[in-house]
Amino acid sequence: MERELSLEFVRVTEAAALACGRLMGLGDKEAADQAAVDAMRSVFDTVHIDGTVVIGEGEKDEAPMLYIGEQVGIGKEPKVDVAVDPLEGTNLVARGLPNALSVVAVAPRGCLLQAPDVFYMDKIAVGPKACGCINIDASVGDNLKAVADALSRDVRDLTVIILDRPRHKKIIAEVRKAGARIKLISDGDVSAAIATALDNTGVDILFGIGGAPEGVLAAVALKILGGEMQGRLIPKSEDMEHFYEKNTADLEKVLTLEDLVKSEDIFFAATGITDGDMLDGVRYHGGTAETQSLVMRGITRTIRKIHAVHTLERKPRFVATESLGRK
Ligand code: FBP
Repeated sequence: MERELSLEFVRVTEAAALACGRLMGLGDKEAADQAAVDAMRSVFDTVHIDGTVVIGEGEKDEAPMLYIGEQVGIGKEPKVDVAVDPLEGTNLVARGLPNALSVVAVAPRGCLLQAPDVFYMDKIAVGPKACGCINIDASVGDNLKAVADALSRDVRDLTVIILDRPRHKKIIAEVRKAGARIKLISDGDVSAAIATALDNTGVDILFGIGGAPEGVLAAVALKILGGEMQGRLIPKSEDMEHFYEKNTADLEKVLTLEDLVKSEDIFFAATGITDGDMLDGVRYHGGTAETQSLVMRGITRTIRKIHAVHTLERKPRFVATESLGRK
C-alpha cells in the first residue's frame, strides 16, 4: 500500500471524532456512535482503496453502515481488509470519561482475522521490551515475573491495566497477590493495549477479556509498535450453533499477532475523542476544531502524531451541520 494512504485514513478517524465529540457527556451512547459511524462512512467514500469491512458495526441486517462485508473506498486498488471502530468507548463519550477513540486499521485482503462481536477475546499484551516473554496459558504471576525480568524491574514496579468487570475478579486477585500495581478501566481496551507499548503511559501489561473486534484492532497497532499480544476467542453466548455452522472459529487456539494480522503492510489510525493517555480529545473553538491523531505504517514502522486544526464551515460533508448548532 502507498504510504500516502496514511493521511487518508487519518481523515477518516478525524471526521468520526469531530462528529461524535459534540455529544460528549450527553449520556446518549447510541447517538454518539451514530454520529461517528455516519461521518466515518462518508469520508471512506473519498479514500482510494477497494476495501471490504471485516471488523465493523455488525452483520448487514443489524448495521446499515460499515457492516461486515460492506465495500468502502473509491479505488480499484489496493484490495484491502478494513477494520473500523468509529467510536471505541461508547460509554466513555456518553459520560465524558477518558480514552474514547475513533479507530481504523487496514491490511491487504485476507490478512485480518475475522472476529465478529459475538465473540469476546481473552487477551494479554505488552510493549516491545517485553516481547517474547508472555504466555496466555501461564499463570498471571509467571507472566508478571517474566515481564518484570525483561524490563529489569521488580514485579511491584509493574502496572497492569484491566477492564473493570466481575469476570476479572480472579485475575485482579492474582495480580494483587503477585504485588503489581493495577489500573482498572471502565471501558476501552484498544487504547489500553496500545498503552503497554508507549513509553509515557506508565502501563506495562494488559490482561483480561474484552471484545474480539477490539482485539484485532489492537493487534494491528501492537504489531507496528513492536509489541506482543496473544488472544483466545470466547463466545459471548452459548446460543451460537448457527454461527458455528458457517464459521470455523477455533476456540482452543492461542492467537498470536501473526494469526490476528497476517501482514506487515498495514496501517493503523486513531483520533482522540475524549482526552486520554495517548491522545487529547477534540477541542471546539467556534469556527474551528482541533484533533490529535496517531497514524502508523507497518512497512516502515513510522509512528506519527498529527495535530490538526479544522475549519468547520469548509467541511460540511464531514461534520453534520446540526451537530455544529448551525442549522
Ligand atoms: P463499545 O465502544 O462498543 O462500547 O466497547 C467498549 C469496550 O469497553 C471495549 O473497549 C471492550 O473491548 C469491550 O467494550 C468490553 O465488552 P464488555 O463491556 O461487554 O465487557
